[in-house]
Amino acid sequence: MKAILLNEAGGTDKLIYQDIEKPQISSGHILVKIKAIGLNPMDVYIRSNEQMIDHFLGTERPVILGWDIAGDIVEKADDVIDFEKGDAVFGITMGKAYAEYVAVNASMMANKPENISYQEAAGIPVAGVTAWEALVKSGNIKKGDRVLIHAGSGGVGHIAIQLAKHFGATVIATSSAKNRDFVLSLGADQHIDYTSEKFNELLRDVDLVLDTIGGETREQSIDVVKQGGTIVSIVPPLPDALEQKARSKGVNLELLIAQGDKAELGSLATLLNKGGVKVHVSAVYPFTDMARAHQAIETKRTIGKIVVDL
Ligand SMILES: NC(=O)c1ccc[n+]([C@@H]2O[C@H](COP(=O)([O-])OP(=O)(O)OC[C@H]3O[C@@H](n4cnc5c(N)ncnc54)[C@H](OP(=O)(O)O)[C@@H]3O)[C@@H](O)[C@H]2O)c1
Repeated sequence: MKAILLNEAGGTDKLIYQDIEKPQISSGHILVKIKAIGLNPMDVYIRSNEQMIDHFLGTERPVILGWDIAGDIVEKADDVIDFEKGDAVFGITMGKAYAEYVAVNASMMANKPENISYQEAAGIPVAGVTAWEALVKSGNIKKGDRVLIHAGSGGVGHIAIQLAKHFGATVIATSSAKNRDFVLSLGADQHIDYTSEKFNELLRDVDLVLDTIGGETREQSIDVVKQGGTIVSIVPPLPDALEQKARSKGVNLELLIAQGDKAELGSLATLLNKGGVKVHVSAVYPFTDMARAHQAIETKRTIGKIVVDL
């Protein structure tokens, strides 16, 4: 099968196309013929940093990058009882997605909603479970909450806006002016252009912040949250001094590294099925153009999700 291998960290020139053996499945696994791969900023961070490759994918080389997939089950282990051969699925594999086939743990996959394409389904997993865990598990979002979502036009943010509205929150979202209409079209009640406005001068008494930016944005977010409110940051690391500042103001500040599971993917699939959440795929690149897809992510200015098609 065709795959994209990475022998060492570096630029997009390190993504090497090669024919390799199809993977074998073991207990609890399914073999998926991949139809679409969703890209995330982590694909780019890990590609360019040797320590990150070691941390996420182990010390052996070459490695295969890629986490978000959608495709069809072509084989399954005998102990996998919740899927059948031929099922269309989507979910998260721990690397190894940049290939025609991947052997993936069935516990990290869910049935693809019939009303969405493989490309849309591949855009959901990491962004979707991250938004879900930030708002629902960590943020305990409830009806009537005032929720601030930074980078509402990004992969995580555009799903988070829709989820927050689904749970009955009032949503304020940031992006640059060019993405204002997109952010409002997702259901946000208020848009703030981070390039010309200071959200920390405009907002007070926010219940919950989803921080997708870190740095100054995260620090300034402490000032807009009400006492007892929460900031869920998805950008590591979390400086000790910031935790202290948040504590002194009575604000809960938490770093989330999303894990994802079948139940969360299933909840997202139900919402996608009902049309309550939509994935916005802003660009689709062919598998032979993975380098260009990475370069798009590197701009940090993409809208919704970037997907690679097989
Ligand atoms: N901890 C975890 O489990 C976890 C999981 C997923 C992602 N992440 C991390 O979370 C971050 C966001 O991920 P993502 O996939 O949503 O990224 P993304 O899709 O690449 O985000 C791009 C968007 O960010 C907006 N943006 C850039 N700078 C901004 C700023 N200063 N303020 C507001 N918006 C800004 C851009 O809008 P404009 O073009 O309008 O500026 C663009 O639409 C990344 O660092 C990623 O690695 C962490």
